[in-house]
Amino acid sequence: MTDFFTMQPGETAAPLPDRPVLCTGSATMRRIHRFFLWAYDEAPGLVRSVQPHDTTRAEYVGEVLGNFDKLLHLHHEGEDVLMYPQLAERAPACALHVEQMLEHHRQVTQRLEAIEPVRLRWMTTADAEAGDDLAQRYTDLCTVLQVHLRREVTEVMPVVDRVLTEREFKGAGQHGINQLDKNFLVGNLGMVLATNPPADQKDLLREIPPPVRLAYRLIGRRMYRRQYSTLFPGRAIPETL
Ligand SMILES: [Fe+2]
Repeated sequence: MTDFFTMQPGETAAPLPDRPVLCTGSATMRRIHRFFLWAYDEAPGLVRSVQPHDTTRAEYVGEVLGNFDKLLHLHHEGEDVLMYPQLAERAPACALHVEQMLEHHRQVTQRLEAIEPVRLRWMTTADAEAGDDLAQRYTDLCTVLQVHLRREVTEVMPVVDRVLTEREFKGAGQHGINQLDKNFLVGNLGMVLATNPPADQKDLLREIPPPVRLAYRLIGRRMYRRQYSTLFPGRAIPETL
């Protein structure tokens, strides 16, 4: 199986500065992008799994989708403030790539903003028309993400690894974590872990604040298993650490 993060014909990576690697940004980015790729691949089907007028399930599914959207927004916000300006300044030859990635982020933001009111309305009515609209919007968002999440890793991250220090890159990742409360993190960590191979799960857990890690082990893992089986009845639950 080919790695999802593989450059496609006609795509060119940003020029690599002649400097040593300073951080492990590429590896971290792959881990979080795997989660978003999974989440938005599932999103349209999750919406369609709700029968018209089943507001109980629409509310449940809609809240989970809202959590995906919140995580995606915070992920991009962290990069917009703490990664791309630094990259543009320290690797000026990357200017076109930076502009392209920021344009992808704008396309994602527009879609998330349009999704929000549709999602909230559908959660209270579960009507078929709103559900169809919402599912189509998530399909469209997924199409944008399939390109962006791949190209950011293949074309830009090798340069980020050389111009941001480990501490700076961690800071960009922490941006989101700092804005989410502990319960939110504990309740959503399982899904992020489950989309990664075991070695990456280990690294992911290392980046999580210790109290959240402990709470995940005590209650979060069970919450994840319950959540997964409610979202995808009958499917085997992917294992997590
Ligand atoms: Fe990213």
